[in-house]
Amino acid sequence: MSGVFHRAGYGLTRVEFVRRAYLLMPLLFGGCGESIEQAETDVGEETYLRYCFSCHQGGVAGAPSLGDLQAWAPRLDKGREALLQSVIDGIPPAMPIRGLCNSCSDEELAASVDYMLNAVRDQAREAGTL
Ligand code: HEC
Repeated sequence: MSGVFHRAGYGLTRVEFVRRAYLLMPLLFGGCGESIEQAETDVGEETYLRYCFSCHQGGVAGAPSLGDLQAWAPRLDKGREALLQSVIDGIPPAMPIRGLCNSCSDEELAASVDYMLNAVRDQAREAGTL
């Protein structure tokens, strides 16, 4: 008999455990529904670090540096789509077509643009201008 109770008790703690794990998810992933965004950001970050970093981290040849508010301000006005188009077409002479990543899909390039835009947004938030 007590075995049944024990099993029931075990079942309950398991449910409670799973429930707690769910409650923790937003804490781990930084908010509701952001786990998908997180995955996209990872692709963006990976693409950025592999292909865009070399010019954009240090602002080589006039490239807007990652998170540099002043450099990005006039570009943000163009909007995300136009910025992505600049990446796909390149901006002669200094910004190469597809940021030198010919094997990148448009989605990967878009994710890397989002990664850069998020970095500016984070800076703006820190500077209190957002
Ligand atoms: C060889 C250096 C170089 C690499 C590699 C590079 N960029 Fe750039 N990028 C530049 C330069 C230089 C500019 C500024 C061009 C201008 O405004 O004349 C620029 C501008 C941009 C802009 C702003 C476009 C606009 O319309 O204002 C975006 C967005 C961008 N790059 C994204 C990327 C992404 C994403 C990658 C990687 C996939 C990448 N870049 C790789 C040099 C580079």
